[in-house]
Amino acid sequence: MLICHCKGVSDRAIRKAVREGATNASDVIERCGAGAGCGGCTEAVDEIVRSEAAHHERRALVVVPAARLATSA
Ligand code: FES
Repeated sequence: MLICHCKGVSDRAIRKAVREGATNASDVIERCGAGAGCGGCTEAVDEIVRSEAAHHERRALVVVPAARLATSA
């Protein structure tokens, strides 16, 4: 879904930017350009950043203990 109409950036591109290290709106602008125009998408960009970051935190909570179990055996 197109999120930033000014720069033609989709939610997938924003999520990819977060997976590659973006942690806030400035990082997203730097990585994919979303939010660098009128600013009308800023709220949606922030929500996607929070959502994607939370998704990865949940995954990390599952993966880390499993990795520890594998190395302690
Ligand atoms: S819609 Fe994203 S900067 Fe204008």
